[in-house]
Amino acid sequence: MNVAADPAPAARPLDISTFREGGSLNARLRQMHEGLLERVPAVDRIACALYDAGEDLLKTFIDSTRTGHSLEGHEFRLSQSRSLSRLATSGDVRILDDIPALVQHGEVHSDWLLEQGYQSSMTVPLFDNGALLGMTFFDARASHAFPPVAQRDLLLYANLINMSISSELAALRTVVASAQMAREFAHLRDFETGAHLERMARYARAIARAIAPRHALGDEFIEHVFLFAPLHDVGKIGIPDRILLKAGRLEPDERQVMQTHVELGLEIVERIIGDFGLRHLPDSSVLRNIVGGHHEKMNGTGYPKGLAGAAIPLEARIVSTADIFDALTTRRPYKQAWTTAEAVAEMRRMAVAGELDPECVEAVAAFAPRIEEIRARYPDED
Ligand SMILES: [Fe+2]
Ligand SMILES: [Fe+2]
Repeated sequence: MNVAADPAPAARPLDISTFREGGSLNARLRQMHEGLLERVPAVDRIACALYDAGEDLLKTFIDSTRTGHSLEGHEFRLSQSRSLSRLATSGDVRILDDIPALVQHGEVHSDWLLEQGYQSSMTVPLFDNGALLGMTFFDARASHAFPPVAQRDLLLYANLINMSISSELAALRTVVASAQMAREFAHLRDFETGAHLERMARYARAIARAIAPRHALGDEFIEHVFLFAPLHDVGKIGIPDRILLKAGRLEPDERQVMQTHVELGLEIVERIIGDFGLRHLPDSSVLRNIVGGHHEKMNGTGYPKGLAGAAIPLEARIVSTADIFDALTTRRPYKQAWTTAEAVAEMRRMAVAGELDPECVEAVAAFAPRIEEIRARYPDED
């Protein structure tokens, strides 16, 4: 249906339709910000951070910034911010009217607000089924920018953002959960532990964050890499046990069967995406690329397509680096766990040989200090 152009109404009612339309959450947030400005013109920035309970991390996720720099690729422990921790438990909204006068130095987010010259801020914790989902921040350059009337409007918008993020994440998690369920049916747990998947997803996120500035990767993309990384080998549920669980070396014909896990994985992903009506998901290509490209090699000798270099999707290069790193640093029945330094040395060798992306390998080397922490949080059960 074709509707005549809107004759620019004087004061538009609260318009929540924009946030429902397709596109990435970030694009939708920016659109919503436009609409919001007509009601609360002082809002210079809207940003949402996601909470990862596993690591107690609050991570930048989506943002719309009209003045000042957007804060991207940033994360910190929620427990390190007393004021935000309080909001997370109480569910209260926090209003700061005069940030320079009120805020204590030393808290990452507050320091950043000061640097950007924001004077007012409204923070709304977001919840999903009672669990902390994240936080929405509305910031303004003016002081006392959010009187009670504005607060009421912003709270409505925050609820809307909350719903949109929860429903999109619910959709994504449904994909992940159903694939995971299929894995468990197929006894894949014996083969790859849950702890391996937790660790490699976190390594993948750390690599993506490290290389984000050079590739202009947004936080939303990074989050999707994190979410989808554990599905890279989902196709292995279609591989017969005699091959999948074989203790010794695979014969050439067995190896060929094993390699079909990539195509099988792509079929499974298509089926799940189709079954759940998720084709519209803007980043479903990230999932396809991870599953389809995680055995490609930089020099073109990988499978199934023999793609080389930049033709291999970046998300696939990130995930294969993370996967191999975790495999090397984990004890297996036939080998000891390598140290981080040993694994990095081996991966540098693989990068020189054209098997791994050197940039991803250097990213692993750079975040080595955090690796021990991730490993300690997700140990293998013996
Ligand atoms: Fe694989
Ligand atoms: Fe793996």
